[in-house]
Amino acid sequence: MFKRIGKNEQQVTFEFLHRTVIAREGDTIAAALLAAGILEFRQAPEDQSRRGPYCMIGNCFECLVQIEGLGSRQACRERVRNGMRVKPHRGRIELEEHDET
Ligand code: FES
Repeated sequence: MFKRIGKNEQQVTFEFLHRTVIAREGDTIAAALLAAGILEFRQAPEDQSRRGPYCMIGNCFECLVQIEGLGSRQACRERVRNGMRVKPHRGRIELEEHDET
């Protein structure tokens, strides 16, 4: 469904729902999950519908995930780090301060 572009072949691995995902260094979590064929990132609190990234630029919040040690974050704005553990966001949003570095 999605095709990678670019030539960065440095790999990192992380975990999403107990599944090991192989990503390229510099990928956002959203890009890595989509490239791995994972389309559902969270459940809407109102009706439990399954949601996934829409804008990929930090505007829609459809890509929310929970990152171990960091809390709820927009997957399209967070870069993958080797060994990080990620799971779908559940419930209402409680965003924390976001460090852009
Ligand atoms: S996909 Fe819209 S904020 Fe991440």
